[in-house]
Amino acid sequence: MSHSMSPLIQNTALKFMGDKLVYLAARVTDEDFGRVVRTLPALGAVGANVTVPHKIRAYELCDALSERAQKMKAVNTLKFQDDEVFGDNTDGVGWWDALVRRFAGRFEKAVVIGAGGASRAICHTLMDNGLSELVLLNRTAAKAHRLRDELSSAGVVKIDGLDSFVQHLKPDTLVVQTTSVGLKDGGSPVPLPELWPEGCFLSELIYGRQTRLMTHVLALGGEVQDGLGMLCGQAAESLALWTERPLSEIPFDEMMKAARKRLS
Ligand code: ATR
Repeated sequence: MSHSMSPLIQNTALKFMGDKLVYLAARVTDEDFGRVVRTLPALGAVGANVTVPHKIRAYELCDALSERAQKMKAVNTLKFQDDEVFGDNTDGVGWWDALVRRFAGRFEKAVVIGAGGASRAICHTLMDNGLSELVLLNRTAAKAHRLRDELSSAGVVKIDGLDSFVQHLKPDTLVVQTTSVGLKDGGSPVPLPELWPEGCFLSELIYGRQTRLMTHVLALGGEVQDGLGMLCGQAAESLALWTERPLSEIPFDEMMKAARKRLS
């Protein structure tokens, strides 16, 4: 998997920690996926990451699951222990860790753009962290409704269309852009606002390029974070699970530095 940055990020961390584990990437077909996972422990693997398109298949074949993987119905991290395959999902918590490094507990309200797999991880994590209001904007309303039905009922979840973005942009709102729009064509999934209200923050899950929305928000004087924080955050959470070390011992900043250097 020549495009994956995970080997670089994980091996940078492992070297820094003085750990003898090595992280390798492999492309696996749908057909082979189950067999490969069952074979890995025999080869001495302690765990594995799983990425698109295998996250749901991984969820289905695990013997045991973390609570968050159960909620998200998707697995991105496997741990092999006691002849069992344990599945976790560190996407949401990894994203949250990176966000909290900048804004500990600042937001009560969020607008999430998109209702796909990445959005599911973000929305569950936001609700688990006590957000009081979530507005879910999606092109296909039915998909947003399905996601809302899955979320814990602790806070209010509203659903609206992409065109209503500006009317939900109130001061101190966290905006999370989870769609792939802007990755290839330089477009924006939502209308660009004329003003960026006080205290709002844009978290983009895309990394490696500045999207039109990011460029626009920066020009309005707003603050943004790209998807590299989520990439390294989920990697750090996975590594903590495999090595059974506390997250504080995982060198997140070194991982970010290596990833940024690769991209530049
Ligand atoms: P991921 O796992 O990366 O989140 P996904 O599950 O395919 O990918 O979800 C993609 C998200 O991007 C969805 O919210 C999708 O909207 P729909 O539910 O309407 O399909 C959104 N998306 C993709 N292309 C889009 C476009 N051109 N305009 C608006 N939204 C788009």
